[in-house]
Amino acid sequence: MNKTNSNLIVCASVIAFASLCSGLISCRNSSTPSVDYSGWSTYAGSKDGIRYSSNEQINIENVSKLQVAWTYCSGDKDTANRTQIQCNPIMVDGILYGTTPRVKLFALNAGTGKQKWIFDPATEDTSARKNPSAFFKVTRGVVFWQDEKGANRRIIYSVGSRTYAINAEDGTPVRSFGQNGYIDLTKNIDREPGTYNPYLSNTTPGIIYKNLIIMGMRLSEDADAAPGDIRAFDVLTGELRWKFHTIPHPGEKGYETWPDKEAWKKLGAANNWAGMALDEKRGIVYVPTGSVGGDFYGGIRKGQNLYANSLLALDALTGEYIWHYQTVHHDLWDRDLPANPNLVTVNHKGKMIDAVAQITKQGFVFLFDRTNGEPLFPIEEKSFPASDLPGEEAWPTQPIPVLPEPFARQSFGPEDITDRTQDAHQEMMEKFKKVKYREMFTPPSKESSWIFPGFDGGGEWGGAAVDPASSILYINSSELPWALTMVDKIKGDNTTLKGLGQTNYGKYCIACHGPELKGNGSSFPSLVEIGKKYNEEQIMNLLGSGRNMMPAFKQIAESDKKALVAFLLKSSSKSFALKGNSASTRESASMTTNPEQKHSILDDVPYTMTGYNRFLDKDGYPGIKPPWGTLNAVDLNSGKLLWKVPLGEYPELIQKGIPATGTECYGGPLVTKGGLVFIAASKDAKMHAFDKNTGKLLWQFHLPVPGYATPATYFIDGKQYVVIACGGGKIGSKSGDQYIAFTLPD
Ligand code: HEC
Repeated sequence: MNKTNSNLIVCASVIAFASLCSGLISCRNSSTPSVDYSGWSTYAGSKDGIRYSSNEQINIENVSKLQVAWTYCSGDKDTANRTQIQCNPIMVDGILYGTTPRVKLFALNAGTGKQKWIFDPATEDTSARKNPSAFFKVTRGVVFWQDEKGANRRIIYSVGSRTYAINAEDGTPVRSFGQNGYIDLTKNIDREPGTYNPYLSNTTPGIIYKNLIIMGMRLSEDADAAPGDIRAFDVLTGELRWKFHTIPHPGEKGYETWPDKEAWKKLGAANNWAGMALDEKRGIVYVPTGSVGGDFYGGIRKGQNLYANSLLALDALTGEYIWHYQTVHHDLWDRDLPANPNLVTVNHKGKMIDAVAQITKQGFVFLFDRTNGEPLFPIEEKSFPASDLPGEEAWPTQPIPVLPEPFARQSFGPEDITDRTQDAHQEMMEKFKKVKYREMFTPPSKESSWIFPGFDGGGEWGGAAVDPASSILYINSSELPWALTMVDKIKGDNTTLKGLGQTNYGKYCIACHGPELKGNGSSFPSLVEIGKKYNEEQIMNLLGSGRNMMPAFKQIAESDKKALVAFLLKSSSKSFALKGNSASTRESASMTTNPEQKHSILDDVPYTMTGYNRFLDKDGYPGIKPPWGTLNAVDLNSGKLLWKVPLGEYPELIQKGIPATGTECYGGPLVTKGGLVFIAASKDAKMHAFDKNTGKLLWQFHLPVPGYATPATYFIDGKQYVVIACGGGKIGSKSGDQYIAFTLPD
């Protein structure tokens, strides 16, 4: 309950808008009478996950008059540590709930931005308090729950592996929930401790069904990831109510698809990190999953890998299986399903069908009958090449939807290489030629392949918005190729401290920080000269807690961690390099090289990738012709792509007369009955409003830092507001700590 904020309040008096939506029944869309779209009390707007608002006070005619209603500054950004805010806030009874860069939970007056209370998880998590990294976590939203009488109102929200229940009235933990106020998500995992990587963090909020909160989680991307079971907890007590094994156990449906009968004991992930959607009436929860652990090598997880990369329909009350559809078989490209599904009723060949749409990183939209999982448009199983890596068995086919039309380019050739300047063209043409494979679903190879759209999509966690009246889906997309190259795993000489550290680096760190410790120039920082920034203790702390998108590495033995840190520090300091050969160091190395070290599944993975390498020229622009980021409208009735426009721009290119190119984007859109698609997401730190019918840009506003989050909109006291979190911090952007709300002038 600390400081008051210095909010700027522009709007004061309230006018009655007789003819406009007051947030009541009159605003409901007639074709979907059972859902009220006037509020924003849930992540993604409503439990059907469509980011739609029936408010129309702000509309095509007046949107150009939008102005800042208030700004909330939490005061806890940290640019050096690349803090972010990815939160889609919620509004309940005039109070806005969301999170700050250090994942404090706040309650604001949604009309004025004035803080009511703030909860700081550091006050509860005493063990982590001395390590600030412990409170740099990704969180995309929070959950509101109240009992049937509207009493006992709670905010359920997660900080890493803890899910708290916080009293919505005063911001204090509900002590009767879980262990003195929180659930420890690392408990109740069906696996022997020590046999998997315990890293676990809830990033996208769960979904409420009756008195259950159904939850997924983010896990390690490695072969030793924890199992990604879907779990439901009692929202009153925090007790576990059901669990669905995404890698089936013996006797469970789908178990027969695993050639290795012990797979469920060894493998993990196939987790839901992207959110869910709920058909409240039918009691069905729709759960998209990611790939099995060990993103780029599947020799240790042969088979189709059910229920990884699948859209699962489960009984929300019991967790029982209803149907599934797998969108990538035996994934070798990290094609996790990246966003919550969208529940919508479509007019399919003259018949109204309750459907579920799922966007993907590749730029596909999969569309199914929600009740039985039948695809509404044909999906072809197409053949793809075999792997050239010994040990790998790529799945021979992959599902390709014939319709809806993809919302992103999915392959590129020499004719698509940038012509921004002659130099850039030459540079990128050379780079392009070094990568052998460019067709989608070519298995990873030492000769390199393009991942296009990149590892972060295409579609990403910002998700899609759908207008239930027209069944048009709005989705933003990044269009940037990333190169994937496999190499034999580096093995150091384990008899020296440095060598052991190098082995561990090759095992745990190389995928993100690269074989030369240089990172990828954007999201994964360089560790060269890391000793100038951190000492041993600080790096050890960071490995213990993780930070933002950097996972924690609790599973690495203390001695291995020390060797790893010694390797990193040595690589950055010449004086240490000399000391590295001294007898005392060698002695400590032999002490750390424990011959009885437990076998890990990571030891069975012979290859590693050389990092997440974006195809950027030396000036930092994508190496292909624009567009580099787009906003798209897809008609789910006909499957047709209706329009595509660039999202974002580079002002310096505009000055040179180059039309808007779009930029990489993170965060999603919302669509309103007022005819607008609101989205920030672009790198140029703009908040935009587009005409939902044509894609015409009607209004934009320069934010202090990019809004890599999804906006929310709500109506209180006669006014509609649109709010966006401005957290920056990704892809080289400065960090920010503001929420900015817009409204029409009085
Ligand atoms: C899944 C990708 C991933 C893996 C694997 C990974 N890191 Fe990181 N690492 C990151 C990201 C992302 C950041 C930046 C975090 C942030 O936003 O502050 C980071 C940051 C760091 C930093 C701080 C850099 C700085 O300039 O502040 C250190 C040190 C580090 N990592 C060490 C390691 C070590 C050692 C390993 C292996 C045990 C490792 N990382 C494995 C993604 C990864």
